[in-house]
Amino acid sequence: MNESSHLDELLASRAASSRRQIEPCTVVIFGASGDLTARKLIPALYHLAHEKALPAPYRIIGFARRDKTDDSFRAELLEALGKFSRTKPVDEAVWNAFAANVHYCQADIADPAGYQKLKAMVDATDHEKLRSNLLFYLATNPSQFGEIATHLNAVGLLEKCENGGSMKRLVVEKPFGHDLPSAQSLNAELIRHAHESQIFRIDHYLGKETVQNILTFRFSNGIFEHLWNRDSVDHVQITVAEKLGVGSRGGYYEESGAMRDMLQNHVLQVLSLIGMEPPVSLEAENVRDEKVKLLKSIRPMTPADIARNVVRGQYFAGDVDGDPRPAYRSEPKVNPKSNVETFVAVKLAIDNWRWSGVPFYLRTGKNLPVSASEVRVQFKPAPNILFAANKDISLDPNSLTLRLQPNEGITLRFNGKVPGAAMELRPVRMQFSYDTEFGAYTPEAYERLLLEAIAGNATLFIRRDEVETAWGIVDSIRNAWTDKPLTNREFYLAGTWGPTAADDLLSADGHEWRNPQPQK
Ligand code: BG6
Repeated sequence: MNESSHLDELLASRAASSRRQIEPCTVVIFGASGDLTARKLIPALYHLAHEKALPAPYRIIGFARRDKTDDSFRAELLEALGKFSRTKPVDEAVWNAFAANVHYCQADIADPAGYQKLKAMVDATDHEKLRSNLLFYLATNPSQFGEIATHLNAVGLLEKCENGGSMKRLVVEKPFGHDLPSAQSLNAELIRHAHESQIFRIDHYLGKETVQNILTFRFSNGIFEHLWNRDSVDHVQITVAEKLGVGSRGGYYEESGAMRDMLQNHVLQVLSLIGMEPPVSLEAENVRDEKVKLLKSIRPMTPADIARNVVRGQYFAGDVDGDPRPAYRSEPKVNPKSNVETFVAVKLAIDNWRWSGVPFYLRTGKNLPVSASEVRVQFKPAPNILFAANKDISLDPNSLTLRLQPNEGITLRFNGKVPGAAMELRPVRMQFSYDTEFGAYTPEAYERLLLEAIAGNATLFIRRDEVETAWGIVDSIRNAWTDKPLTNREFYLAGTWGPTAADDLLSADGHEWRNPQPQK
């Protein structure tokens, strides 16, 4: 066999293994009375059923403590679907067929008898695959993950198996730990009864089409990838902004803050996709290897670096688009003297061959003027030789903006001549919009993620070393804040772009934040 046919065969077999078959299975949701089940999981599963994307047959078992029958559980889910479904009205025929596959197991997570009951329900079918192919979705408090896995193992519903045998998978939700030691002990608990390849850690940002498109954009377009490095890129800005305040989630947020809630996961995930090297294939391990390498290349910061390169902020009372917002310290379940950050901006250095010397500025916050997630890659300026004589002309550096949400698309900015006799230049834009190009196809992130977990494709899930590396980065910053109350300059008015120190972070380097524009 010559070299090239050998390579063809290899590539074909990789492509085939990435198109795994979806087998009949039972999805068991722990925490089935919770918000996530009603708002996200059931609507996602319903839409997958609607699109005939679920395996045939399939079963869904909700496991929770509250007293319900199959029928009352279904009725509650239908009511929630009416509110949270991305398509309305709910299609009655699809719902009826879907609901017939939904069951309820009333039991306490801590009670061994509950798992016997679950086992009996799982086994109550003649279909062998429905009994053996099991996906456990843990939509519960992470402190219960280990306990659930142990009970499942005790009744024979979960056992450790590496890439073989029947499917037994655990899907877990964030927060995956609250620091590195807690994430490590959570991982240690899970891997007692499941192999790493059976664990699917969710970061719903990876289920977003536009986030997935980062890799497609980078590695399928010849013209950009060779500019994607320190020779051409001046700096990168990643903004994940939210108009919403903390609202009713004060209790949770007091324990997390922006750093743990958003930066540790969503923002660092976007950064790793933007910065990673091309993987050798799109297989999960190859993609995740490269993401971890990128995270490991982030330069550790000393306390002095943190004081210089990290800005935290907390909102005080203001308004967002005319809507009054209370101060964070006055939100329900928030300590009136809380020092928890609702905004964070960080300048990171990546010590690898591609990015050495290119600053990455990341920011995220609540009660900001718009809800938008964007990545802006700013290229080095052109030498201002030809136009230098004219003092009125200032050349804008080229930039490429990936709009992850809303108004999903990509914009390339370059300079154009304003028509007329005078030599006047102005930045102009070349736009790609998902809506215009592909129509309003907006599947929810959870649809894609559930389907991938059922198919056993882990590319869009976070691997153990990835989650732990991300915690290492976040911990080093948070440790530097311990016992340091917020100072006056760390507060920002709700409805503004964070504390002014966040602007200073960039202006110290001669840059400025480019703020996502509000939706018209
Ligand atoms: C969640 C955070 O993970 O992501 C929330 O806990 C945040 O605080 C949400 O609001 C943002 O997600 P999205 O998809 O609305 O950008």
